[in-house]
Amino acid sequence: MRKGKPSITARKVALNLVALGAKPGMNECLPQGIVQATETLLVASGAVGARAMRWSRSPRAAAVYEAFDWMLPGQFEAFGHRKSFCERQVREGIGEGATQVLVLGAGYDTMGWRLAPEFPGVNFLEIDHPATARLKARGIEAMGHRKNLWLIAEDLGKRKLVDVLKSNPPWVRSAPTVIIAEGLVTYLPSEAVGDLFCQCAEITGTGSRIAFTYFPTGADGRPDAGPITGLLLWGQKIIGEPWIWSIPPEELGLFLEESGWTNAPALEGTNVKHGVEFYAVATK
Ligand SMILES: C[S@@+](CC[C@H](N)C(=O)[O-])C[C@H]1O[C@@H](n2cnc3c(N)ncnc32)[C@H](O)[C@@H]1O
Repeated sequence: MRKGKPSITARKVALNLVALGAKPGMNECLPQGIVQATETLLVASGAVGARAMRWSRSPRAAAVYEAFDWMLPGQFEAFGHRKSFCERQVREGIGEGATQVLVLGAGYDTMGWRLAPEFPGVNFLEIDHPATARLKARGIEAMGHRKNLWLIAEDLGKRKLVDVLKSNPPWVRSAPTVIIAEGLVTYLPSEAVGDLFCQCAEITGTGSRIAFTYFPTGADGRPDAGPITGLLLWGQKIIGEPWIWSIPPEELGLFLEESGWTNAPALEGTNVKHGVEFYAVATK
């Protein structure tokens, strides 16, 4: 991450989502209210100016994103499917008794803000790097406080998740929980990913699930992001958010088992690649 600067990739995902709102046919697939809430959050937080937002929600923006889709094949629409996947996991988890939801590396995701009033008995917690979390908090404050939503500003590379949650009173270690790590693990070193999954298992009760997205590993051992992977890896490094971690899908089951989770492909609802990523769900 660029020191003290909000995440560029979190902003990109959010703007992509706004642009998707202008793509015919996407509204049926996107979670209800997500486009409007994301637009409001980006502007209210100051992450995006009003003029840039007007452009992002125009059909021209959608056309430009589609024109550049060859760089990350299918990824423009896949960001929308990713949001639907995560929200479905949260809704299903709550339906099965989860009383807390933790979104790791939340960026400008609006799920907690949108779902908190619908599920007043569930505590929603989000964690992100301080520079991004603080900017987001400003926007969330302007959009309307939610009594069961907590935004936590922490660098998980510097402080352990278990310690972060110890100092956040609503967290109950024994409670059935849904953890979301959407577009996060790619940015973490290998040891950090294993450690994070182990910690997630440690801080959650029986009946919990973790849903996440990941890049498959290419033949050269690096994350496989399509035909121009090398260039993209270089670009990500330049912006200070390098893609590091990936895993061959066939090795995921063992990785999860070693981290205290059980791969649950049946809960995933899909086993195909979306854009350049796979989705996964594990339970404990
Ligand atoms: C690609 S963005 C995804 C944002 C969001 N999950 C989404 O999909 O809309 C990755 C996010 O992970 C956060 N992140 C990366 N490394 C982190 C760390 N060590 N601690 C906390 N947050 C981190 C970034 O700040 C950024 O918001």
